[in-house]
Amino acid sequence: MTASKIALIGAGQIGGSLALLSALRGLGNPVLVDLQGGVAAGKALDLAQAGNILGYDTPLAGGGLTPPESEGEVREGNIEGAAVAIVTAGVPRRPGMSRDDLLETNFRVMQSVGKLLRTQAPDAFVICVTNPLDAMVWALQQASGLPPQKVVGMAGVLDTARLKLFLGQALGVSPQDVSAQLLGGHGDAMVPLLRYTSVGGIPLEEFVATGKISQEQVEAIFQRTRDGGAEIVKLLQSGSAFYAPAAAAATMARSYLLDEKRLLPAAAHLAGAYGYQDLYAGVPVVIGAGGVERVIELQLNEAEQAEFAASVAGVEKLIETCKQWL
Ligand code: NAI
Ligand code: 2OP
Repeated sequence: MTASKIALIGAGQIGGSLALLSALRGLGNPVLVDLQGGVAAGKALDLAQAGNILGYDTPLAGGGLTPPESEGEVREGNIEGAAVAIVTAGVPRRPGMSRDDLLETNFRVMQSVGKLLRTQAPDAFVICVTNPLDAMVWALQQASGLPPQKVVGMAGVLDTARLKLFLGQALGVSPQDVSAQLLGGHGDAMVPLLRYTSVGGIPLEEFVATGKISQEQVEAIFQRTRDGGAEIVKLLQSGSAFYAPAAAAATMARSYLLDEKRLLPAAAHLAGAYGYQDLYAGVPVVIGAGGVERVIELQLNEAEQAEFAASVAGVEKLIETCKQWL
């Protein structure tokens, strides 16, 4: 069987980590592409050399792009025919910046990457990672013209991984046994859902009711999850999280490539679901060979609905701002 080509557009911290994960896990053959062609080519060569030590012989390629004004033509990093494209191109957060501060710069990057995907990889399943996530995945779908179910944003897998880690630590159980759902935009107003969180199949609410964890502790963990990106930005001082974001995007890519039909939280195109039209927001979805095959609609109570609406309103505002630049 021919290995799938995995286009990694953006060869920075997340792109490089994704290339390593793709090779180690046998996901496919990574092609790194970046405005800084030397960085993409250098990482590809370095990772190919690592294969000799780590025991993979995955072909790795990397290179640059011509500037966006020349139609995004690929010079070296050839993504033509890619089965999956993971987009991390753009600028990350620096201390004191919110995800939304990246809006205009990264919107313009999505315009050029969208053009590249349309011409070079129109059949790819596209996973956008670039922030501010929900507005950028919307912009990328618009610019690429690819079917909305083939363009998805990565955030919920990362945010729930943080939530599961913090809850597992607080309860003294493996985070592997924590299951959680989280809705809305990948921002300060994201909505962790107490009613849809369980530990080893036992509702978290039962742990609260029996005093194993207090409501205040749960609220503090939800808040730490909302602040999870900023916590790492503050520690790193020069960029944002990359190992967990790469692992999250690789999980989504695998579900598509192997038709695993994982039910994962992701920024999906809403066309009527939850009462929204033509926008992207974090909801539970099923990812399989068809891309985002289903959006799962949860029965939200009044408070959850209000929080979700507030979070989506933030995303809508960013999308409206982007529309001015079209
Ligand atoms: P990075 O700065 O290490 O890498 C970004 C790369 O994009 C750079 O190598 C840069 O040269 C390249 N680039 C910029 N413009 C480009 C263009 N037009 N075409 C091709 N390449 C271009 O950043 P990192 O840490 O890899 O993060 C990437 C993005 O992911 C950021 O926007 C960050 O905020 C976002 N992020 C999103 C998360 C999520 O949950 N959705 C989590 C963590 C980061
Ligand atoms: C994160 O959540 C900054 O969005 C990035 O780590």
